[in-house]
Amino acid sequence: MASSPTSSTSVESLLKENRIFAPTGAQAAALGGAAVSSVDEYKAMHARSIADPSGFWGEVAQDFEWFTPWSSVLEWHCPDARWFVDATTNICHNAIDRHVLDGHAHAVGLIWEGEPQAHGLPEIRHLSYGELLDEVSRFANALKSLGVVKGDIVTLYMGMVPELPIAMLACARIGAAHSVIFGGFPAPSIVDRVLDAKSRVIVTCDGAWRRGSVVPLKQNVDEAIALLSAQAHNVEHCVVLKRTAQEIPWNAARDQWWHDVVAHASTDCACEAVDSEDLLFVLYTSGSTGKPKGIRHTTGGYMVYTAFTARMTFNLKPNTGQVFWCTADIGWVTGHSYIVYGILPNRVPTLMYEGAPNFPAEDRFWEIIERHRVTHFYTAPTAIRAFMKWGEEHPKKHDLTTLKLLGTVGEPINPEAWIWYHEQIGASRCPIVDTFWQTETGGHVITPLPCVTPTLPGSCTVPFFGIDAAIVDEHGTEMPANTGGLLVIRKPWPSMLRGIHGDRPRFIETYWSRIPGMYLAGDGARRDERGYFWIMGRVDDVINVSGHRLGTMEVESALVSHASVVEAAVVGMPHEIKGTGIAAFVTLGPGGTPSDALKSELREHVASVLGAIAKPDMIRFTNALPKTRSGKIMRRLLRDIAAGRDSKQDTSTLDDLGALAALRGNDE
Ligand code: WT7
Repeated sequence: MASSPTSSTSVESLLKENRIFAPTGAQAAALGGAAVSSVDEYKAMHARSIADPSGFWGEVAQDFEWFTPWSSVLEWHCPDARWFVDATTNICHNAIDRHVLDGHAHAVGLIWEGEPQAHGLPEIRHLSYGELLDEVSRFANALKSLGVVKGDIVTLYMGMVPELPIAMLACARIGAAHSVIFGGFPAPSIVDRVLDAKSRVIVTCDGAWRRGSVVPLKQNVDEAIALLSAQAHNVEHCVVLKRTAQEIPWNAARDQWWHDVVAHASTDCACEAVDSEDLLFVLYTSGSTGKPKGIRHTTGGYMVYTAFTARMTFNLKPNTGQVFWCTADIGWVTGHSYIVYGILPNRVPTLMYEGAPNFPAEDRFWEIIERHRVTHFYTAPTAIRAFMKWGEEHPKKHDLTTLKLLGTVGEPINPEAWIWYHEQIGASRCPIVDTFWQTETGGHVITPLPCVTPTLPGSCTVPFFGIDAAIVDEHGTEMPANTGGLLVIRKPWPSMLRGIHGDRPRFIETYWSRIPGMYLAGDGARRDERGYFWIMGRVDDVINVSGHRLGTMEVESALVSHASVVEAAVVGMPHEIKGTGIAAFVTLGPGGTPSDALKSELREHVASVLGAIAKPDMIRFTNALPKTRSGKIMRRLLRDIAAGRDSKQDTSTLDDLGALAALRGNDE
């Protein structure tokens, strides 16, 4: 293979775990019955979903309410898919109104727990579908009064407060799209995204609580707005939710408090009938170039696929006491699909929390599970590794017996973490679903079905319905079992991305050109003799840090934007908690002198451009970067050095990596 997976650098497993975890009758009983009756039924349904996608998805889509029916289920002209053609609907109607109309106005739809505690208790809110309907409608009317119309993209840069999903649903309700920017991103990241989406309205908070301090969201927005006006982009309105109540800068011509704009807004706001292919949201994610890509998702297909995957993968059943908790931030696709859009239509309460897993103490998550009687817990391997490090005394302090199902997402899970999760959190009782998917896929594409699919620690197992996944070589030819290759999806599925916002060439080039006719996921993987998938890691210049995607080039550009840096190369390295950490090799200009102080300055500088998640874990100064004769940076060599794998030379004392490159030969 021409490209080896970049995260062969992930935590290497010491544990040889070959056990197969077969579903048990008790698990199915706890979950009110399995979604399908057997592996054979899964296989038959999967085969049908591939052979007859229109028949399959046409039936699934009957479970949703449409304002006008489709003329055909699918039109596919690779790479352009249209699902539920000509149908109109509204995802907000299916997430909320529908339950109110069905007589469930008083049922709890959203549970929220804030971070700050008073007398040992955090602030807690339970919002019923009726309350959600009122709040969403009022904010939808407020957006209208600010001039937001169908076709606009509203930027939401908020903390994890109920008003974030309320604002998302309000946009959907009036046919506007949203672009949620993760609250951990600094001003420059806001600038790029607002400009790309041409947003004229930003919704934010005065601040967000995180580990006892305030993240100055409004201040970051103001900084971004100033930078934007320098680029002739005018943000007309900024709506600010009061959360942390510190002093903030205020521009009376542009800024308005959330509580003021909703104060006189009516709770009456009809759902706009939007076309199935109307834009629902844009979500920016890192790629192999410096500029994040705005992944476009549309209404009908995304609605059907996220809610259906949630129902099948998590065995969701309304009215059975289930409480679903996905620990992700809504700023990532996991939060979009499995805190908001995929869960609400299933009428199972969705829980969201503000803050961090280790504040005020390292048992925060277990306390939340106990307090809210959580039945479904969905988190990332990086979090599980942190829990392992903090110690099992923390979960042991709490009653976790309500748990019925555990999920993981974001990166390959190492068997040690899988077994720990299974034993310490799931009491060897709960099924674990390792769900593989991406911002681009909208929802789970490779995942076990709980109580049906036998699981193997480290494998995300089998394709979901409608997903024709395969491992192929550079020519699109399928690889034999247990041979590494490129992960592709050969048929369209309802929630597949509809493009990169404003960049058709990049859409084609990134996903469709290397192997024509197939969606290229960007991951290396193998399939075993059972047909199970094992994800090996990214094959592009993207690294997966704590389950978050980062382009190495973004980090390199951030480093080079520092006055002392001339050149930088960034690669992944194994990291105990993060899975993949960030290693940066940096050459300095005449003004720069290597020092620990400069290292920390560079780390802070990267954080100020890309956010704390992009801070390099290791910085090495070098006189020159190792390059091939044609001038390409020898990344494989750098990865080996970062991982401490280079045996040819003691690199700890080496200051000229060019010399090492010469020793190695120009073999890349
Ligand atoms: C990349 C997508 C999908 C929500 C979170 C990340 C990696 C994701 C798994 C998994 C192995 C996984 C892949 C993928 N990934 N889930 N279960 N096993 N790897 O979304 O930021 O779009 O990143 O995350 O490398 O390509 P994202």
